[in-house]
Amino acid sequence: MLGVDYYPEHWPLERMDTDLSIMKNNGLELIRVGEFLWSKLEPKEDVYDFSLLDTLFSRCDALGLKIILGTPSATPPAWLTRKHPDMLQKDALGHERPFGSRRHYCLNSVTYRSYVRDIVQRLANRYGRATALYAWQIDNEFGCEDTTYCYCEKCDQAFQHYLERKYQTVSALNQSWGTVFWSQEYSSFCEIRTPRKTNARLNPTHVLDFYRFSTHSADTFAQDQIDVIRASSEAPITHNFMVGFTELDYVTLRKQYDFISYDNYQPTEQYDPLISEFNFDLMWSLKEKPFTVMEQQPGRVNWQQRNQYYPPEWLRATTKQAFAFGAENVVYFRYRPLYSGAEQYHSGLLDYTGNPEKSPRISVVKDLAAEDLKPRKKPAKTGLFFDYENAWMHQINTVTKDLNYVEKVFEVYVAMRNLGYDIQFFFRDSDLSQYERVLLPYAICIPEPIRRQLNAFPGKVFLTCASDLKNEKNHIHSDRSLGLNFPSLAFEIRDFGAVSKQPVRWIAPDGALQPLPELLEGSLWYEEIDLRTGRVLGQWAGPYPGPAIVSSEDRRLLYTGTCFPPETLRGILRYWLQD
Ligand code: GLA
Ligand code: GLA
Repeated sequence: MLGVDYYPEHWPLERMDTDLSIMKNNGLELIRVGEFLWSKLEPKEDVYDFSLLDTLFSRCDALGLKIILGTPSATPPAWLTRKHPDMLQKDALGHERPFGSRRHYCLNSVTYRSYVRDIVQRLANRYGRATALYAWQIDNEFGCEDTTYCYCEKCDQAFQHYLERKYQTVSALNQSWGTVFWSQEYSSFCEIRTPRKTNARLNPTHVLDFYRFSTHSADTFAQDQIDVIRASSEAPITHNFMVGFTELDYVTLRKQYDFISYDNYQPTEQYDPLISEFNFDLMWSLKEKPFTVMEQQPGRVNWQQRNQYYPPEWLRATTKQAFAFGAENVVYFRYRPLYSGAEQYHSGLLDYTGNPEKSPRISVVKDLAAEDLKPRKKPAKTGLFFDYENAWMHQINTVTKDLNYVEKVFEVYVAMRNLGYDIQFFFRDSDLSQYERVLLPYAICIPEPIRRQLNAFPGKVFLTCASDLKNEKNHIHSDRSLGLNFPSLAFEIRDFGAVSKQPVRWIAPDGALQPLPELLEGSLWYEEIDLRTGRVLGQWAGPYPGPAIVSSEDRRLLYTGTCFPPETLRGILRYWLQD
């Protein structure tokens, strides 16, 4: 279905009938509403007003429109934060994140969680069995506006409990964190705090466990609301994930939702359809089933440095692309732009007058609604490993700041898509048996279940530099040498480091398969590879010794020991893929 993110609270109640008939007449059947409605629902503590939602539900029921009802926990009202200021977050410098925008609450505030349970209970009691209710949306974009990580005293305590449950003894924690370094050893869990801003680099395992804890906090905060809703409503439950967002582990968070929803915005000023496709494939792969675009960018947004103009026709392409890549619903953000408020420059389907006659975007949507739009994504034979903890490890401590995990995985995704391959993402708990070929770019920590499957995997395997250097504790492997140890491709990495552009000589033995020029250009990362089993396909040609590209004799396994520009990467992958 096509739909809109609708804010009836922005307009006089009399406007609702007009709006709903405009939606109905233009093929819009699904309405997401309510995620920022708390100050309307409860203008004063214990004073409730559900008249707006009551009217909306009964009108939608009569018109056959469906509603996704948001829980309003992303915008606690002023009276609440004034009464309980300790519910607010603190940043890494200990400064309070105040009321005045949104997302001003700590996920671990026991006080706030009880207020949230109360308002969600009232909504679930009132609308949980309404025929017009299509689904629930929990909160809105956990982590948006730099709110993933909170450093308040409540989080300190919650973090201590989390760590005690994980490690049981403080000596186990000291071992895992390597706190002997720089005399950071703890004698009890209550000495531990969230990793605030420090003078020098933080302990990398402390930070990794804090990132895990932050995902756990979003999980349990949502679980509170899900438990309340499940007791009073059969409607499915989702939460809207974000584009290219890796501060929260969506592989963990996906488990508690019935379907994945996702806000599809162009994160860069230069429009690139492959960014949407990467994220569509990722969202589809999380549950291997159709997802909902909960917010489809309608044109100009308001949060970029330069908020690009997009012509109405752009909507046609992006909407069809979403269905092609597995969306079952596309909901446009937003129905109508509001002249006031922080997002007054954000476009909508209508223009500022709210007059559909003057809004070409809504007529594009009407056309689209007449088409046979349905999810077309199928399971793919090519698996691309994506792991949020890997993204964190690369970010927390790094050899070169120029290697961004998501950007580098995206490059491999683009190269494979340009070679004509459909991609499915796999994760730390996936079964690889469905794949003919797998790629694990920059997998600095390869989870044990994946390593086991790789060793027995019959298909093609592509790996890159910075693979398998670390374990789950964010420690560099010291129990064994660095490098790969497959029966048909084995080598040790003697040393590694950042490197500027250096020549690599392509020396693929079978001349016929020469998709590449003789001299290539390696950059960012150098590894001193001591090859034991396999063949050299690329040799460093500058001052550094050793092979830069190695593969098994049968080319089934291929490893690049440095980073290559997109064209070269594509040529290497084409070589790897040739049967
Ligand atoms: C400084 C410090 C050392 C160590 C090195 C690392 O010199 O004194 O403790 O951190 O840097 O290069
Ligand atoms: C996010 C939020 C919306 C709105 C849009 C603006 O997706 O979910 O509330 O702020 O961005 O593009």
